Amino acid sequence: MFYPHEIVSEVRGLNDVVDVVAGYVKLTQKANNHFGLCPFHSEKTPSFSVNRDKQIFYCFGCGASGDVVRFIMQMENMDFPEALKLLADRVHFRLPEKGTGYEAQKTSNLRKIGAELNKRAARYYYDYLNSENSDAKEARDYLEARGVHQNLIKRFGIGLSPPIWDGLLTYLDDASREDMVAAGLALQSRKSDTRFYDRFRSRLMFPIIDQQSRVVGFGGRILHNEDKQEAKYVNTPETALFKKSEQLYGLNLARKAREKELIVVEGYMDVIAMHQHGFINTVGVLGTALNDAHVRQLRGANCTSVTLLMDSDDAGIRAALRAIPVLIKGGIKVKILDIPDAKDPDEFLTQFGSRKFANILQKAKNHIAFQIDLEKEKHDLSTTDGRVGFTQEAAKILATLPSAIEMDAYVAQVAKAAAISPAAILSEINKQQGTPERVTITPRVMRSRANRADYGLIKAQKELLHLVLTSPPAARALEKSQHILPQTMSGDIYPRLLTIAFENASRDTKLSPGDIMDLLDSPEEQQTVGEVFIDATDYTSIADMERAMTDMVKKIKLAWLDNQIETQAKMQKIDLNAVNKLHFEKKNAATLNITMRDG
Ligand code: GTP
Ligand code: MN
Repeated sequence: MFYPHEIVSEVRGLNDVVDVVAGYVKLTQKANNHFGLCPFHSEKTPSFSVNRDKQIFYCFGCGASGDVVRFIMQMENMDFPEALKLLADRVHFRLPEKGTGYEAQKTSNLRKIGAELNKRAARYYYDYLNSENSDAKEARDYLEARGVHQNLIKRFGIGLSPPIWDGLLTYLDDASREDMVAAGLALQSRKSDTRFYDRFRSRLMFPIIDQQSRVVGFGGRILHNEDKQEAKYVNTPETALFKKSEQLYGLNLARKAREKELIVVEGYMDVIAMHQHGFINTVGVLGTALNDAHVRQLRGANCTSVTLLMDSDDAGIRAALRAIPVLIKGGIKVKILDIPDAKDPDEFLTQFGSRKFANILQKAKNHIAFQIDLEKEKHDLSTTDGRVGFTQEAAKILATLPSAIEMDAYVAQVAKAAAISPAAILSEINKQQGTPERVTITPRVMRSRANRADYGLIKAQKELLHLVLTSPPAARALEKSQHILPQTMSGDIYPRLLTIAFENASRDTKLSPGDIMDLLDSPEEQQTVGEVFIDATDYTSIADMERAMTDMVKKIKLAWLDNQIETQAKMQKIDLNAVNKLHFEKKNAATLNITMRDG
């Protein structure tokens, strides 16, 4: 962590989460929580709650959760230090210049220097493209021939790197060579430590700009594609500022369209062509699969619905199929457009123009229809086997639908296409929904899918975690009792939370949800903290706490022992001793008692 814990706590304390969120979301108070429409997924009735006592937000719909710093991180698409800075500025709190973490400080400096060098480099490439040099003229003709006109060159800041080894290095001769390498703009010669050369030479340069308007990196397209020896595109490597797999090309511009619906395409040239033809709500993935980081950026831009325009080849279809669940999980609606008669959007626009394009855009299929149609093509519906196979695959897809109305509409379609009765298809869907998933189940999924018993168990674990995380004496009592160990808890994250509670047991400070989130690495883990805190009971007396703890510990321990016994029973060679011991422990657990008084 860049800033010491005390500083983070102080900034957090000065920024009430309800006040900060209210700056972005209209909130109405109901009991202890403030409710509003979730800014991180699309919804019509408010399930986004903010709690002033606990200083957290939590969305009952999509599970987004965190403290005030994480709210700003997600909302403004910032990293932790940047969000903290925004909050500090908000209350006129001066953050210390030097943090404790030297590495983090160094990274932060590299980012600052990198952004500055990139900006100057972009200027240099842009000026070079517009110069009188013959290669610059040639490059301008190339762009013009592809329909990229001067206004677009300017809007995207497109440039050209000169065909020499040290054009940029000479231009930026005041920058240290090490900084140039760290920014990804230069390379060090392998033969000599003192020789450096430009990374980009003779390439069309596309600056990649993030949502804070920083030039974070470049894509460089080769100008003469005849020579297949060289890669068509060269990107800035991973730097402190640039992660290719997380960037969306053109998002800085698409945001300005202020549309909730964005179009996602595959290439630089596709984004530019789309913008040239007036579809300015278009962004591009940089040759990588669409992932959670992209979804966070999309949500940060208030996007609630995406149309995927994938290249019309098998790779494009595979990319679309992989992207669908990622977007759905992020609460973004998905439509897919298979571009007809052209290999990509750029080619289509050049050949058929924007009117035609607007027409086919209307025909984008919702992701369910897209997947079902793909299955339809895969099976021969003139045979019985084909019809059965198609129906089974279609049922799998439909089983994921949350809405009964939608389900009904699609069942009718599938029934018609496969000439199988809707009732049979519905029963197949039910079967699909009944099969338990063999994935590590996160609590939120459990709430919707698992049976009552599991739900009760998860609830007990959450309540217990909340209790021991917020009360060091309770944590001490539980640790001393030895009834529950971290590994007794379900999943990966609950054991980690219990460990945190035990580690804090000897100190006498209460952990706030924000403190705990700071100790966890991934957004998934941090989200769990919100789940644990949002609904939790606050106990007022020691006796109540003891009673509640005893109940919860019993429940968790008995479930765990049952599970162990079951595991033993499934073994090839049953260890009778172990089984007896487990039964004995079960009997003891029925009468266990947690007390905080002699601790
Ligand atoms: P044009 O061929 O000029 O129309 O460019 P394009 O953007 O349509 O490229 P293409 O469809 O071939 O590739 C789609 C995207 O994949 C590109 O925009 C790049 O982001 C990425 N890509 C393609 N080729 C390469 C490569 O050789 N190296 C890298 N790093 N990325 C590539
Ligand atoms: Mn192309």
